This record gives sequence, C-alpha cells and structure tokens, in this order.
Amino acid sequence: MMAEPRKFPHHLIREIFEQPEALRRTIEPRISPSDGLVRLDEVRIAPEELRALRRINIVASGTSRHAGMTGQFMMQELAAVPVEIDYASEFEYRNPMIGRGELSIFITQSGETADTTAAQREARNKGSRTIAISNVEGSTIAREADGFIYTHAGPEVSIASTKAFTAQMACLFLFALYLGEIKKTTSAESAKRYIGELRGLPQKTEAILAAADQVEKLAELYYRVDDFMFLGRAIHYPIAMDGALKLKEVSYIHAEGYPTGEAKHGPNALIDFRLPLVMIVTCDSNDAGSVKRYEKNVSNMEGFKKQGATVIALATEGDDEIPKIANHTFFIPKSPELLSPILEIVPLQLFAYYVAAKRGLDVDRPRNLVKAVTGE
Ligand code: AGP
Repeated sequence: MMAEPRKFPHHLIREIFEQPEALRRTIEPRISPSDGLVRLDEVRIAPEELRALRRINIVASGTSRHAGMTGQFMMQELAAVPVEIDYASEFEYRNPMIGRGELSIFITQSGETADTTAAQREARNKGSRTIAISNVEGSTIAREADGFIYTHAGPEVSIASTKAFTAQMACLFLFALYLGEIKKTTSAESAKRYIGELRGLPQKTEAILAAADQVEKLAELYYRVDDFMFLGRAIHYPIAMDGALKLKEVSYIHAEGYPTGEAKHGPNALIDFRLPLVMIVTCDSNDAGSVKRYEKNVSNMEGFKKQGATVIALATEGDDEIPKIANHTFFIPKSPELLSPILEIVPLQLFAYYVAAKRGLDVDRPRNLVKAVTGE
C-alpha cells in the first residue's frame, strides 16, 4: 500500500520539507550521463567568453542575495574569478563600473523583483553579459537575460523563501563547477568528487528533517525571547544572515546576522545572558582552512560563554568538543565546506517556523511583506 502523503499545517513547513526533492530536481538534470560532469546549456554564453571573464557581479535582494554571497565563495574557489556582490536596491546608486568582459548574475526566486530586473537592464546597457537564476520559467528576469539557470524548486507559496534558497545555492554551485571545468581551475577528478557530494545533499537534508523535533524543542525553550544574534564565519556568514532574516520575517523577533569575527568590533557589548547566540561552527576536517576557522570559532564561543551567553550551535556530526561548550548543539552531516551552507540553513528555517507557529503568527503571510516586491 502507498504511504499517505504527509499533511502539513502551513505552506512554510511543507516547503521546508520539500527541499530534498527540490534539490534533486535542480541538480540531477544538470549532470551529464556521458561524462558525469556539469552541463548547463541554458547559460548560452560561449565557453571562450566564459573563460575570458574579468569579473562576475552578483546582484539580488533579501534571501536571494544571501545565496549570491555563498556563490561568491564557490566561484572564487572553483573558478578563480573575482566576484562582487550587490544589493539590487543599491545597484544604481553606486555607479556600477561594469561592462564588457564581465558577467552579471541576477538571482530572484520570483523573477519579478523590480530592483533586480532594473539592475539587470542597467548591466546590459553597460555591455555586461547576464545570467538570471530564477524559480519561475519565462519570468521577466529570465526573458531579458542572455542566459538563465532555473531552480526547479516548484512553486513557493509562503512569503519566506526556503526551498528556492537551497535550490539557488545548488545552481550557483553547479555554475561555479561548470566554470571551473571550462577554465580548468577545477580538475575533472575534483569536479567529480564535488558532484558526488552535491548529489548526496538531498539525502543529508532528509536526515536533518528527520531530526526536526529537536529543533521544535529548542523553539519551545526560546519562543518568548525578543532578540537573537546569529554568527557565522566565511561562507557560513550568509547563512547566519539568512537564519536571522527568516526569524525576524516570520516571528517578528529582532535578530541580527553577523560575521563571527566582527562581533568583537561592537556587537560584543550586547552579548550576555539576555541575548541567545546561534553560532555556525561546522568543520570540514579534510580542509585546513576550515579547521583553522573552526578553531577561531571555538575560541570565540568560549569567550561568549564566559560573558554569560547562551549558545545554540550548529556543528558537524562527530564533533564532541562543541557540545561541551555550547548549551545546545544541532548536528549537521559532514560535507565539503562549500556545500555545507545548503544543509546548515535547514535547521534555521525550522527554528524560525516553529518559533513563529508557537507565537501563533501567520507564518505564511507575515505582516507588511509580499512574495514579490514589484515596486521600488
Ligand atoms: C525571503 O524570505 C524574503 N521573503 C525576501 O528577502 C526575498 O528573498 C526577496 O524579496 C527577494 O525576492 P526574489 O528572490 O523573488 O527576488
């Protein structure tokens, strides 16, 4: 007998649980069955042109911009190309000095965000090539771009973006690998290893979702708190930003996302027993840089604990150091550092959902927000 499809009380929690499938749909068609490498035919920009790029600009708003921030790390690492990030709403004000020989990537779930579509027109007018990453086929952004990469996350109804976000990061990773293959900055062997890891993400996401009750218990403990700080270093910083954005958006709790190392440049004055910290302290033990960052994170966490802070940590499975320091630890399956953001955001999405639901709020349609900001 077929299992009954699971019923969810809100679109948001259903969409969070749809992420394994959304990732599969986004990743699988882009892997060539013949050589096991990335194929992105919709990009429609000749390999010679991609090989010669001087710079990549990524422009987006809100959660899509956070995806872009992770893409910056992926592309710089795998394709050795400088990447700049912009807020779409700020793009026109800084006289963007972009032009020929550059590629501008516009990320928008809806494909209709006015600031992002306007920025794309400006980039094109200045001679930059453009690629749109969107979840909506035939959307304005995709129609006006030179090339596009669709996230196949399926329709996202809840105003808070969840499955579109993880699918955007998967697309950015695919593009970074594609560029790395073309530029030969990533060897075929390394690309294949990464592709294996990428294809393993849906299953790891399922494992995180299977532990959703742990996150719900945390939400039960913290849903009455009015301020939170989320900290992450390097590629984990955009995830801290997005964890904070999700919480403020759906539960109306003041939450800040900060780079961990920046805390001592001001925010540390706020850190005591009244301000719970969510710290992303995952570690890829095969990567010396990741281990170094982890050690800094541990030392920062010890300092915050001495100040009386309560710490909720996201750590890598098998880490027995973090639970000795943090008040609560949620474990993330092991993965290469460039891919772990796609896993780390899932418990933070769940946390925002459960906190908002316990506060009795309209989780799918938070006040004052719309799904696509089509006005400037
Ligand atoms: C995300 O949870 C928000 N609702 C918001 O930040 C959103 O990501 C932003 O408005 C951009 O939307 P877009 O991806 O459709 O352009």
